[in-house]
Amino acid sequence: MSAMIQLNHLQKHFKFSKGLISTDKRVVKAVDDISFSVEKGEIVGLVGESGSGKTTLARVVLSLSKMTGGDVLIDGVDLAKATRKDMDKLHRDIAVVFQDPASNLNPRQTVESSIMRPMIIHGVPRAEARKKAGEVLDMVKMDRRYLDSYPHQLSGGQLQRIAIARALALSPKIMILDEPTSALDVSVQAQILNLLLDLQEEMGLTYLIITHDLNVIKYISDKIAVMYLGKLVEFGPTEEVAEHPKHPYTKGLMDAAPILDPRLRGRKKEIMQGDAGSLINMGAGCRFAPRCRYAGPECRERDPEPVTVGEDHQVACFHPLEI
Ligand SMILES: Nc1ncnc2c1ncn2[C@@H]1O[C@H](COP(=O)(O)OP(=O)(O)OP(=O)(O)O)[C@@H](O)[C@H]1O
Ligand SMILES: [Mg+2]
Repeated sequence: MSAMIQLNHLQKHFKFSKGLISTDKRVVKAVDDISFSVEKGEIVGLVGESGSGKTTLARVVLSLSKMTGGDVLIDGVDLAKATRKDMDKLHRDIAVVFQDPASNLNPRQTVESSIMRPMIIHGVPRAEARKKAGEVLDMVKMDRRYLDSYPHQLSGGQLQRIAIARALALSPKIMILDEPTSALDVSVQAQILNLLLDLQEEMGLTYLIITHDLNVIKYISDKIAVMYLGKLVEFGPTEEVAEHPKHPYTKGLMDAAPILDPRLRGRKKEIMQGDAGSLINMGAGCRFAPRCRYAGPECRERDPEPVTVGEDHQVACFHPLEI
């Protein structure tokens, strides 16, 4: 297997001062020293509470936002060293679908024009783009008569299918899906997830799927990456991480999610205390320490480095749980 997305010590800090002449500089460490990779054909789910840095990480991978440290390699190409030609290829190879179906599409354009647009931008001749628009609509199992529709004439689930169709138009290798089903009701969510799974299998795609819904992640992904305030606290195979979480935060997250799997219902629950802290000007030590009941003095002094606790399973904690 080869890594389609490889993050090495990735960092994205936002710096801003309180006023124009203020010397009070603030730093938001939205993504802080994160390393993991997504192998070819794999589905990795990225979870974490609101504000933990998931979208920021995705934006850096999509080169919509510049990293402030570390490296991102996409299919072996280092983003920082990519030539224009490399970037052009990367933009074809990586597609994105956002949460809000409406924001994925232009309200004044027909479905056909919306799907054709990225192809036209990449120099695909109009006739070919039109043909492909019909084909990708077939792939997301929508009738071609919707090509002439406008977004306001469609339901949330249909809009999300079209957003996925548009993402497929340039035959990408990688799809980044940022909360692709959060705005949909549960029955439609399941249809979209199944569609994504079918497409992944048929086309051997690689997915990085972001959500705060653990049941979605457990259903769809091969591996889970858990973020907490800009840090990757745990990464590993889905079953391992879901059933034997090693980080107290992961366990807290798993226990907070409604349990759909009957095998896990009897398990003792870990209830997390307090709010997720602030990302601004954080001190030393583990970011989860203020909420962690296992935290000792070392956790408040030093940041735990990720350690390997199983095959492809890493945890950044001085006191990994024995579950
Ligand atoms: N352009 C920016 N300038 C300054 N701070 C930013 C910027 N973009 C994001 N942030 C901050 O980075 C942190 C992470 O935000 P991000 O949107 O990545 O979180 P998230 O995990 O995607 O949350 P959600 O689940 O709510 O979508 C937040 O504290 C946010 O305020
Ligand atoms: Mg987000």
